[in-house]
Amino acid sequence: MISAVIFDLDGVIVSTDNYHYQAWKKIADEENIYFDEEVNNRLRGVSRSDSLEIILERSERKYTEFEKTRLTEAKNTYYIKLLESLTAEAILPNVKEVLIKLKANKIKIAIGSSSKNAKLILKQIGLIDLFDAISDGNDIKRSKPHPEVFLIAAKRLGIEPTKCAVIEDASAGIEAAKKARMYAIGIGAAKNSKLCDLSVDNIAEIIEIVKK
Ligand code: BG6
Ligand code: MG
Repeated sequence: MISAVIFDLDGVIVSTDNYHYQAWKKIADEENIYFDEEVNNRLRGVSRSDSLEIILERSERKYTEFEKTRLTEAKNTYYIKLLESLTAEAILPNVKEVLIKLKANKIKIAIGSSSKNAKLILKQIGLIDLFDAISDGNDIKRSKPHPEVFLIAAKRLGIEPTKCAVIEDASAGIEAAKKARMYAIGIGAAKNSKLCDLSVDNIAEIIEIVKK
């Protein structure tokens, strides 16, 4: 029986995954490094610094730690600039209705995101007060696929990990959920992840699943 649902943020609650893509694409273009949607899908759920390492796999030269810091800072500056125009319109279809229905069914809801910008985004889209707990990139030492972010969310909710479901658009997030012994639901880019307990096309499908 599921007592709580932990939501990933970027690409599940809100379309900011596109902003991450645009900001990294700008960095990759400036550095003359090949970057496409396929590479971008590997960045889903992983931290800013781990994302850069994945992008640099395609680079012809080595980067110093100083250069890497400069690039992650530049990416975040581009990303924050894009977030300035973020409004509630970027909330993905059916998300708000699902959150309200889960709460009405006494299911706790939390955020489990690798992003250090999670609270800024949640404030901007007007959803921050809806969640019973938030666990994000500022709380963790290791990002997905490590389960830390989800285990912290479960602890803050006061719910056993095995009674939590996670909804994720990242393969790394699905892996993290399984390592945390949670029920893993894939959506979007994580739909075909082998470790999913279930895949959905529409987030509204999770209502019936968690009510069982
Ligand atoms: C995750 C995104 O939610 O947050 C990743 O899927 C991103 O692509 C990570 O790298 C860290 O985000 P931020 O906002 O701290 O750079
Ligand atoms: Mg995501």
